[in-house]
Amino acid sequence: MGKITLSVIKADIGGYVGHSAMHPDLPAKADEMLGKAKKDGLLIDYSIISCGDDLDLVMTHTKGEDNEEIHGLSWNIFEACTEVAKKLHLYGAGQDLLADAFSGNVKGMGPGVAEAVFEERKSETILVFAGDKCAPGAWNLPLYRMFADPFNTAGLVIDPNMHDGFWFEVFDIHNERRVFFDSPKEMYDLLVFVGSPDHFLIKGIYRKNEDGSRGEICASSSTQKLALIAGKYVGKDDPVMIVRSQSGLPAVGEVLEPFAFAHTTSGFMRGSHMGPLMPVSFEDATPTRFDGPPRVICAGYQLADGMFVGPRDMFTDISFDNSRQMALDVADYLRRHGPFEPHRLPYVEMEYTTMPNVEKKLQDRWEKL
Ligand code: F6R
Ligand code: MG
Ligand code: MG
Repeated sequence: MGKITLSVIKADIGGYVGHSAMHPDLPAKADEMLGKAKKDGLLIDYSIISCGDDLDLVMTHTKGEDNEEIHGLSWNIFEACTEVAKKLHLYGAGQDLLADAFSGNVKGMGPGVAEAVFEERKSETILVFAGDKCAPGAWNLPLYRMFADPFNTAGLVIDPNMHDGFWFEVFDIHNERRVFFDSPKEMYDLLVFVGSPDHFLIKGIYRKNEDGSRGEICASSSTQKLALIAGKYVGKDDPVMIVRSQSGLPAVGEVLEPFAFAHTTSGFMRGSHMGPLMPVSFEDATPTRFDGPPRVICAGYQLADGMFVGPRDMFTDISFDNSRQMALDVADYLRRHGPFEPHRLPYVEMEYTTMPNVEKKLQDRWEKL
């Protein structure tokens, strides 16, 4: 078998109730259409997951990244699900579909995309993460810890296959440019940027070849920022991420370990507040308190010739109970700030909300000091 492509494409095309969860009729519609695409031979296999109001299509095929047929299929599914959502008067039906018609690639059209092309290993362990009420930058801290922090990933010290480190691909989403960092050599340079997750996003992680050059893909994240695409606040750019695991890559436990710390992310209430990212089971991926706190789920798979064996609901494990408690305590603490920073986003980050209108309204009333 040659290289396979794993595509995770997601959109919020209607919430039930409000923005809190997924109505079962939406994944049912997606299942029907993905089932047909599999029967027709376009897909090898598929799996459907959801986190909060976001529907995630997890697909394997042999068409490569940014493929028109695969992206077109996803777009059609989101449109069909939008019709279902409209019939049920679900909230924000079609919210993330920013374009009127599909034109070759869903990137920049609203949906979030994470893709990886690789040769399936003898045993291919894959972890797919999906977040809700968070931002694409929410993956920066966990990805850094998985692939660069020896206090998280023992394999960086112990496993000779990981000892030389990894390449990090970083996007500057405000200036549409990217750069690759050689970790651990350039770890401190890397941190200068990825420590600002609303500006710089880790897009991909690559293995190092023996000569130190960039090798195969290990992790891939979605880098959508709907606010930037649409020019104003239109919804939540909730992210997805693919991480390959085991035998020369971080073990499952090393990939999940960063989430034991419920770090803060933007995306809580109205996309305008910081909140702790709480790792939850599929069942608990239903943010309701102050439209949050932000959630992350993890679907674990073994691939068998491109077929999904799974998903396993990785965060059901009781060993994440303390992390959940931490998230709830941090949510309590932050909530008490109300409209004050650091609960509310920094002033400059509010430019895509109603804040500029207030600025405008008051522009003639400011007096020079
Ligand atoms: C959406 C989100 C929510 C909404 C909020 C207001 O994913 O994060 O917090 O921003 O519920 O929604 P609207 O403006 O649609 O009433
Ligand atoms: Mg929504
Ligand atoms: Mg959402």
